[in-house]
Amino acid sequence: LLLLLFSRRRREGEPPLIKGWIPFLGKALEFRNDSSQFLQQLQKCHGDVFTVLIAGKYMTFVMNPLLYPAVIKQGKQLDFHKFSDAAASTTFGFPAVNTGKFPGLSDKIQRSFQLLQGCALNSLTLKMTGNLQLVLKQDFLSSNVVGRECDWRQEDLYEFCERVMFEATFLTLYGRPPQTNMDVHTQFHRESWIDVLLDNFRRFDAMFPLLIARIPIVLLGRIKSIREQLIRFFHPHRMAEWTNPSEFIQARTELFNQYDTLKDLDKAAHHFGILWASVGNTVPACFWCLYHLLSSPKAFSVVQDEIMGMFGEKEPETMTREQLEKLIYLESAINESLRLSSVSMNIRVVQEDFCLRLNPHCSVCVRKGDIVTLYPQSTHLDPEIYPDPEQYQFDRFVENGKMKTEFYKGNQKVRYYHMPFGSGATMCPGRFFALNELKQFFCITLLMCDMQLTAGQQHATMEKSRAGLGIMPPANHISFRYRVKKCLQTQ
Ligand code: HEM
Repeated sequence: LLLLLFSRRRREGEPPLIKGWIPFLGKALEFRNDSSQFLQQLQKCHGDVFTVLIAGKYMTFVMNPLLYPAVIKQGKQLDFHKFSDAAASTTFGFPAVNTGKFPGLSDKIQRSFQLLQGCALNSLTLKMTGNLQLVLKQDFLSSNVVGRECDWRQEDLYEFCERVMFEATFLTLYGRPPQTNMDVHTQFHRESWIDVLLDNFRRFDAMFPLLIARIPIVLLGRIKSIREQLIRFFHPHRMAEWTNPSEFIQARTELFNQYDTLKDLDKAAHHFGILWASVGNTVPACFWCLYHLLSSPKAFSVVQDEIMGMFGEKEPETMTREQLEKLIYLESAINESLRLSSVSMNIRVVQEDFCLRLNPHCSVCVRKGDIVTLYPQSTHLDPEIYPDPEQYQFDRFVENGKMKTEFYKGNQKVRYYHMPFGSGATMCPGRFFALNELKQFFCITLLMCDMQLTAGQQHATMEKSRAGLGIMPPANHISFRYRVKKCLQTQ
């Protein structure tokens, strides 16, 4: 089988084929080390479309955004859920949903995603404001000596974003486990369950790229038992006692209960998968946005003025979706950080041998089982679309006082110019919630605290080995200091 796979020859009409010299692995190692640089080099040599053997899969990369629409609208011969469904079930440990054992489950899961949008987003937004304030206040007041809560404290910037976003997002989506209800005015300590959960989550996330690449979990040391602990955390008996879960999680719990064929731990594994989806990208996104804002005094002051213009100088009790939508400089700053840090790939599985018409002059033939991949990072860093693409320009997405939505390559309008959340039918269903919670995080932290990067440290660089998996985390530690603007205990 290996020989057959490796002996593949390019046929007429097919894109250039790059196999490397290592059977099966092909170009997997180069791809994993720095996918962006690797693909850019191939694009220079072979043009906008080429096929590469990566870990046993023939992947056809489409690198020019003007060719994306043809791939995105091609639903019949390019399946978009096959790959992600299979990857999700092996990574998070639940049985594949698209089998006769669970009739209709896959469609119903897709429908449950509507509860992350529309009217349901209003209550998520409301809860998130309260939870962010609670987590930050508990954070400021917990380990500090009474009366000295206004002192500067120094911390790793990523850990700060992670701690705050992880807990606030968890409470907003899943509710609160019992005996942990706290009154923020009387009890300020971070509870241990969330630290244990976060610690296990971090270890799991470090292995996430290997699991997605289908490396069997038994080969990955302690990760199997860590994943088991994470899944058990969401056991239906435990979740039944959590107070105030979101409509989204409640609906999914009810949905799973309709299937006798789903075991308790399968249901728990589905809930765990959503935990990863909801924070796995949001935390690094939060880091890059805050890092860029703190690195650019002009951006910081424009965004801070915009927030103060909307809410005044004190953090508000509530924030509506309409108010958040009006914060265009903040939205542009977030979009710009996502543009620079996103390496997600859009993956489609070829259902039968056919020739894909990319534009009136170009079509490429692909084979059943191959993978057609859009690689938006090449768009995000295209100097024709974004002049000085490596530079952070917080107001890149603002034009004439509105969000800028028209970008051009040569003289052609680019429809898919910003794709951190994917595209078409597989677009992230949590994108509106994610944008809102990032905006809320910045509104609250910027109004509540003074913040500065520690002087004299190196710039943050990106961890490039998480090829294709969303937002890259930083590769180095960045430290910052912050203090509460007003002493909370004296309020
Ligand atoms: C899927 C990005 C936050 C829930 C995805 C995909 C991307 C993505 C690229 C895959 C799209 C594709 O296959 O083409 C992001 C980024 C986020 C973020 C960059 C933060 C900055 C969230 C949040 C949630 C969420 C807060 C909330 C629960 C999901 C789910 C899927 C998904 C459930 C899988 C959808 C499916 O199976 O069809 N996300 N996401 N995401 N995301 Fe997000």
